[in-house]
Amino acid sequence: MTNTDASSSSEIAPIGREPVLRQGSGFGARLLQRAVFDHGEVLFSFLRAFKPILAFSIKGQPVALVTRYDDVKEVFLADDAFPVSYATKLKMVTGNPFIFGMRDGPDYRRDHAALRKVILDEDIDAHLAPRTRAVAERVVAAANGCLDSVEFVRQVTFEVLLEYFGVPKPTNGDIEVWSTRLFQYICQVGDDPALDKDAEVYGNLLRTHVHDIVTARISSGEDRDDVLGRCLKRQAAGEDGFSTERICTALVGLIVAGLPQPPAVLPKALEQLLRRSKILAEAQRAACEGDEGAVRRYMFEAMRFDPLTPFLPRNTAKDHVIAAGNRRAKAIERGRHVLFSFASSMMDERRVADPTSFNPNRPASAYLLFGYGLHQCLAKNICEKLLPIMLMALLKNNNLARAPGAEGRLTKQGAMAERLVVCFDPQ
Ligand code: HEM
Repeated sequence: MTNTDASSSSEIAPIGREPVLRQGSGFGARLLQRAVFDHGEVLFSFLRAFKPILAFSIKGQPVALVTRYDDVKEVFLADDAFPVSYATKLKMVTGNPFIFGMRDGPDYRRDHAALRKVILDEDIDAHLAPRTRAVAERVVAAANGCLDSVEFVRQVTFEVLLEYFGVPKPTNGDIEVWSTRLFQYICQVGDDPALDKDAEVYGNLLRTHVHDIVTARISSGEDRDDVLGRCLKRQAAGEDGFSTERICTALVGLIVAGLPQPPAVLPKALEQLLRRSKILAEAQRAACEGDEGAVRRYMFEAMRFDPLTPFLPRNTAKDHVIAAGNRRAKAIERGRHVLFSFASSMMDERRVADPTSFNPNRPASAYLLFGYGLHQCLAKNICEKLLPIMLMALLKNNNLARAPGAEGRLTKQGAMAERLVVCFDPQ
């Protein structure tokens, strides 16, 4: 892969810039935040036992909340009955359908296969892992003993993956703000006029930026081995799925659906480790010994306690009985929204032994962190390798601890980590 330093900066982004995450406002939003995103498991454990598939309405819209492991997997796998519900908003952002918002079918298969031809597993060890290690270590060393873990993961993720995609940062704005607000817009349940406005403004800026980069690369004829370069080679060979429009859509889709996630998630795992001093010490020992596999297991287990989001949404495209043949079976009629809690599923004692204990040696089946079935995360293998490397760069430091006061407590916007400052002995 080609390295460029177009987007590299050894400084943590200044605290005074526009907040990367759109701030939720009002008492209601804060209450919802605490009830669902901080203490959801209290409700979910009750529902798993007494009402595993709960039907209710929000403002007249019928909704079903699915909480048990087997039923969550069933929803993941039944794309014909429960297609993803991100299509309209995603298209508003990307301009064209992108796999994250598409139902199964020839178009989805073509676009998914096209991405799989240019995002290769062999890039992970050959390029992405060493690059992530170098950038993470540089940022930690420059931090002088104190950093915001959210900003740290964001900086490393955007620098490494934008370079991998072949999309340098724009000079007319902050792509971290653009893509994060667009991700919030796509994932929000309900309406938020401020996010609608963000989607219009930042969607336009991002599409224009990516289009300019792609057309400039085509006109320059520059031959670079990054995701964009590989797409253009396939375009030149006349392969299906690689028109300029599809390439632009894919790059915008990846930047929006992917890059905001590691900073939203990894600090939540760090918070779980900081809450458990003995476990933290074990994870730190593994990091100091360079045992990436062990750090990955601690990270996965920590993420299980606070994954990407408590639940994922789906539409119901045709009538379907969830858990058919069981006493809890529930008919879900066409038109009902489905919220299925993969967070709850990973705490289901029917499938995950002693789920409330922290056990880094669980079987892989205990984890649905990157989804399951058709829409399972396209970057699962990338994230499984790169996230532990970022975490290791923090864990390796002597006297790693929360910063004093409020800064040292994780704050969130919705399900997304917002800030968690940690301190350590300067390197
Ligand atoms: C901590 C990091 C990440 C987590 C926890 C995560 C998790 C997920 C989950 C749960 C889904 C399935 C959503 C659903 O079924 O509704 C998903 C899909 C997806 N993710 Fe990730 N993701 C992460 C990072 C990334 C990154 C960095 C990228 C891109 C570089 C990415 C690209 C995608 C794409 C394209 C899809 C849709 C795949 C499809 O529809 O076939 N993700 N991710």
